[in-house]
Amino acid sequence: MTQPALRPYLPADAPLLAAIFQASVEELTGDDYTEAQQAAWASEADDEAAFGARLAAGLTLVATLDGTAVGFASLKDNLLVDLLYVHPDAVGQGVGTALCDGLERLAAARGAKEIKADASDNAEGFFTARGYQPQRRNTVTIGGEWLATTTLMKPLATSPAASPR
Ligand SMILES: CC(C)(COP(=O)(O)OP(=O)(O)OC[C@H]1O[C@@H](n2cnc3c(N)ncnc32)[C@H](O)[C@@H]1OP(=O)(O)O)[C@@H](O)C(=O)NCCC(=O)NCCS
Repeated sequence: MTQPALRPYLPADAPLLAAIFQASVEELTGDDYTEAQQAAWASEADDEAAFGARLAAGLTLVATLDGTAVGFASLKDNLLVDLLYVHPDAVGQGVGTALCDGLERLAAARGAKEIKADASDNAEGFFTARGYQPQRRNTVTIGGEWLATTTLMKPLATSPAASPR
């Protein structure tokens, strides 16, 4: 199986990443959220310029399979996994793992002692399997819809060399 590769986000990626975001929300979150909640969530990328600005404001990595972008993740304030989305056609191939590994290593290399995620209910299992510990439940409003999330935290090794991997 092809291994995912990572590269930094470029401004020209914004339309494609917006499309990945919307497909991911629409096709992968239906077990935990209503159609109205999914529609409100997906609409966060309707304004491509604003979405691109959000991607550029964080430390954003793009994952590719055979050169094609299939997912992305963004680290905010060297602390929070702000975005983590994989295209439905590419799930289950280690793309989310590669992206999260990348963000955790970058955060640790920049001195972070811990990393957090505000995980949607469908992604909470992904994070707990990686050693993130649930800290609190939240509700966020997007486009008039209330969505439940969980804040999780994972301690980071102080230097990449000390990482168990
Ligand atoms: C959650 C998400 C990023 C996972 O991406 P992915 O590329 O499929 O993840 P991987 O292939 O690297 O999976 C790694 C492991 O996590 C497991 N896993 C993946 N998604 C999971 C989930 N939702 N719940 C529990 N475990 C999950 C896989 O089974 C795999 O386990 P294994 O190593 O034992 O085989 C992807 O499903 C997604 O984009 N979901 C919708 C968007 C979303 O909710 N994003 C998070 C916002 S906070």
